[in-house]
Amino acid sequence: MNTNKKIATIIGARPQFIKHAILEPELKKHFKHISIHSGQHYDAEMSKVFYEELGIDLPTYTLNTKGTSHGEQTAEILIDTEKILLAEKPDMILVYGDTNTTLAGAIAASKLNIPIAHIESGMRSFNKNMPEEINRILVDHLSGLLFVSSDQSVEQLKKEGIYSNVFNCGDIMKDLIFAIIEKGLLHRKAMPTDIIYCTLHRPYNTDEPDRLKYILDQLNHLNKNVVFPIHPRTKKMMTKFNFHEENFTNIDFIKPQSYINNLNYLYNSVALVTDSGGMQKEAYFLKKRCITIRTETEWTETLNNNWNALIFKNLAQINQLLELPLGSWNKKLYGDGNARKIIIDEIINYFK
Ligand code: UD1
Repeated sequence: MNTNKKIATIIGARPQFIKHAILEPELKKHFKHISIHSGQHYDAEMSKVFYEELGIDLPTYTLNTKGTSHGEQTAEILIDTEKILLAEKPDMILVYGDTNTTLAGAIAASKLNIPIAHIESGMRSFNKNMPEEINRILVDHLSGLLFVSSDQSVEQLKKEGIYSNVFNCGDIMKDLIFAIIEKGLLHRKAMPTDIIYCTLHRPYNTDEPDRLKYILDQLNHLNKNVVFPIHPRTKKMMTKFNFHEENFTNIDFIKPQSYINNLNYLYNSVALVTDSGGMQKEAYFLKKRCITIRTETEWTETLNNNWNALIFKNLAQINQLLELPLGSWNKKLYGDGNARKIIIDEIINYFK
């Protein structure tokens, strides 16, 4: 059904381009759709490559966000997004996850009484030192439609007094992974195998020289070689602290990868070591063991049966964690790869 409603998607960070890639074609079938790129991630390797590889429409608007602090970044996106929303008058905005872009977009819309649909709602780390935790709590409480990935998130929202318009649609990233698998884009050609794949970008792991050095030293002592696509934040910090890639001989530092390349590295690895949220799920969906360098995870269900393990202080134990036996794997975790259909149906219902 093609409605006359206009939806504005607001995205700006790498994980959001990925999620939007699989939903956008469906949005375009049913609504007038515009998209705003906040400019939070601006390097080609963090943004353009995903638009090209995943066939995402160029943004209707691209903001020129320069903010150096979280507050400044959020404020700049808010101010510019408000202007666009005033001119475009969408019937709803759609945001993903927990980044500063998500928060800025949601505040701009809420001030104009534009309903907000929040995808990946209800996630909590219970660590309010993470900017993402604040962002997701605030956005959930501003949203009119909340799409969650698991029953646990439904329960969490209830605890916070949010009962209505909460839909467990499963995880939209599962939709995309299934689509990639169906297209035969996962392969074993010319990929390093028997490696640990590693991603790292959380400020608490990267922004203190002692902490970053400790993590890199530990990765350098793993029993297998490490392939490490380096996030701009982490690269910036290594340069600032005068850490040289060539001093970590067990680590192969590579540039940030496109979505499909990234999945193929993971698919060919023996395990993932990460502090990313989304990568923990991708590892699970691809039946890869994950070690998460954090004190907590939003994706607690992945911890079952040793598929994921949290470790923060004594990273020397990673080698032992990599040997733990893996238990059964839940094919149905975070839905069945049909989140986008539920999202579209419920948005249509909302307008009825
Ligand atoms: C952001 C999100 C995080 C998400 C991550 C995915 C927030 C609070 N954090 O963290 O939840 O997991 O994206 O990558 O929104 N930079 C570049 N080039 C770029 C992008 C960033 O050089 O293309 C630099 C920025 O200038 C900044 C640093 O990297 O110095 C961090 O970028 P920022 O967008 O603030 O946060 P992320 O750490 O990427």
